[in-house]
Amino acid sequence: MEVDPQKEIIITAGGMQALMMAWMTVIEPGDEVLIASPGFSSHYEQVYLAGGVPVAVPLLEEQGWRVDIDAYRRAATENTKALVLVNPANPTGSVVGEGELRSIAELVLEHDLFVITDDPYEVYVYDDLDLFHLLSIPEIRKNVIVCASFSKEFAMTGWRVGWILAEEGITNQMLKVQDSFVICAPTISQVASLIALEESYDPTLQMVEEMKHRREIICARLDRLSDLFSYQRPQGAYYIFPKILPEEMQNSVDFSVRLLRESGVVTVPRSAFGPTGEGHIRMSYCFTREEINEAFDRIETWWTKRKG
Ligand SMILES: Cc1ncc(COP(=O)(O)O)c(C=O)c1O
Repeated sequence: MEVDPQKEIIITAGGMQALMMAWMTVIEPGDEVLIASPGFSSHYEQVYLAGGVPVAVPLLEEQGWRVDIDAYRRAATENTKALVLVNPANPTGSVVGEGELRSIAELVLEHDLFVITDDPYEVYVYDDLDLFHLLSIPEIRKNVIVCASFSKEFAMTGWRVGWILAEEGITNQMLKVQDSFVICAPTISQVASLIALEESYDPTLQMVEEMKHRREIICARLDRLSDLFSYQRPQGAYYIFPKILPEEMQNSVDFSVRLLRESGVVTVPRSAFGPTGEGHIRMSYCFTREEINEAFDRIETWWTKRKG
């Protein structure tokens, strides 16, 4: 697509700053923002920080954590200002398809909403799926604010570089926010990012290939623990959000803390990802194959002992 880099792109200190600028720019106190649940916890925190009200829209677990268009329709009110989309998603690893995105686009136009697309995992898509982006629908381009990042695509998390793509009318306002936040993304990191863009893309493609193997490993290891977890197979990103099966272990914070203390494996409890979906934990597979296997060896030992 045609983009005017001077007027429509802003380089930020990571995706997080891009997102915060988006909220600070579009939200007035009390405005509601639709956020998938389970979803990325920082969206909730950032919307609160900007004076807005996050409204959780539950995903459909049994259908692979698909978005529920009817739930979005029910959640949209006259106070709704924006919705945020992460595709592929954190923490579920699910991918929103073109049909669903077109339905979301209709809702956006009906209610004249902003859509903040939070896109750090765009390149991590598996099963030969084609990722569709809302920007491919010309009618809603003026509503879309893209927040992207170098963190995951180029393994540059600590360098803190991301970018925004939005219409000039929006970026003009955002620049005021950026000036009061950080003035600019660090120059040294911008130079490193330029090198990442100009040099070979092979390392990124290799990382994506490697993630596919790791996804197979984590799914196979979860299959061996079928009396402890069930799960929906992720299609992107590098997370999986298994359900804890035993009745007495449904408190996800207790479960994660216990797993950490008793087996030394770190997981993130459901409560970090919005109000719905208790009884789940997030596991990340952005670790080596050996580390993933080691973690599951420990969980298996722990679970075998616990079952007695
Ligand atoms: C959905 C999502 N958005 C944004 C971020 C933050 O990315 P960055 O390092 O670019 O600030 C993350 C990091 O985990 C994320 O998962």
